Amino acid sequence: MAETLFLPQNASKEETYEALLPQIEALISGEVDLYANLANVAAALREAFGFFWVGFYLVKNEQLVLGPFQGPIACTRINFGKGVCGTAWKEAKTQLVPDVDAFPGHIACNSASKSEIVVPVFKGEEVAMVLDVDSDKLADFDKTDQRYLEELMGILGETLA
Ligand code: SME
Repeated sequence: MAETLFLPQNASKEETYEALLPQIEALISGEVDLYANLANVAAALREAFGFFWVGFYLVKNEQLVLGPFQGPIACTRINFGKGVCGTAWKEAKTQLVPDVDAFPGHIACNSASKSEIVVPVFKGEEVAMVLDVDSDKLADFDKTDQRYLEELMGILGETLA
């Protein structure tokens, strides 16, 4: 298994995702342990983009429970339909939030967080977990992040089957 990420210098966001995704796919395809893979996915995304907070919340007994992440400490449990993460779970679809203060019910784990994207990970038809990425800048995520993070979470979801 490669233990170093190769990332293009002075690259666009698209170029960085294009370089990163195959490397993450290779990384997780060689390991069956879910938490090891989630930890490496969070670390790889943080290393590539320097995100303020990136991590997973896993569906456990009717709640989302904090899983592997990179960044400041965070809320440990989120209820169905609550916050951006609980909404992504309930609606089973990505939430792209340019201004967290404008999102009804946003859960502020850290007051520095200004914008956020949450992408569900499916096991079959069901949401099994969500990827949450936070930025300390407003409107830091766009359709490019959504497209590539959804693709990556699709790859991750296939390992859950
Ligand atoms: N802001 C999220 C909670 C998780 S933290 O940002 C890490 C939400 O509203 O669901």
